Amino acid sequence: MNLTLKIWRQKDANSEGQMVDYQISDVSDHMSFLEMMDVLNEQIINKGEQPVAFDHDCREGICGMCSMYINGEAHGPDRGVTTCQLHMRMFNDGDTITIEPWKAAAFPVVKDLVVDRSAFDRIQHAGGYISVNTSGNTQDANSIPIPKQDADTAMDAATCIGCGACVATCKNSSAMLFVGAKVSQYALLPQGQVEAADRVKNMVAQMDLEGFGNCTNTGACEVECPKGISLDNIARMNRELMKASI
Ligand code: SF4
Ligand code: FES
Repeated sequence: MNLTLKIWRQKDANSEGQMVDYQISDVSDHMSFLEMMDVLNEQIINKGEQPVAFDHDCREGICGMCSMYINGEAHGPDRGVTTCQLHMRMFNDGDTITIEPWKAAAFPVVKDLVVDRSAFDRIQHAGGYISVNTSGNTQDANSIPIPKQDADTAMDAATCIGCGACVATCKNSSAMLFVGAKVSQYALLPQGQVEAADRVKNMVAQMDLEGFGNCTNTGACEVECPKGISLDNIARMNRELMKASI
């Protein structure tokens, strides 16, 4: 395939960015999107120019780093996949592909396609954990009976990889799908009960402090989430918050 790429280039957080056109040829439809970006960067480096900066790590849909807006959709046109799992067979010879960073006030651009998602880390630090005595007398988690349905629903929530596609897609830049998933994964398990009230209050307070918007039930986040995190998690977070506030 021969493609035209329109890519957001921005030198650093303080510079103005702009879309820059690149031509790339002989792209195999077996390549992943990031492999195609690697080939482009080789070409750019060989010309003595700065390669396009983008985040990536595991390249197998686990770490949530490879976040970019492709043709106006978070993680591109496929469903239930991250950018690293997106294949070039989703595109056609002669296509023009626009590639942009996440756009949200709470995710400022660092360089090109790289944004600062440390706001998510700070929300996690505010309560996305349980405190366990690891002195050697810890109860084996497998010895605590948990209804299968609860374990499965908690596991579904725990599959959130913190990529931020929900925020990037939401017209309000809301982080409630992410925070809802992180609250839900503990709210459904006995291990999460001890700190439940503080967890939800602190995580929601930090979310607001970081400048994320509110949920208005549009549901775009759920559609674009590569892990299929359900809106039910937002409802559960709201119930947990109400319970904790009374
Ligand atoms: S809820 Fe989905 S879209 Fe949002 S951070 Fe988690 S995995 Fe990414
Ligand atoms: S690089 Fe880890 S999820 Fe894509």
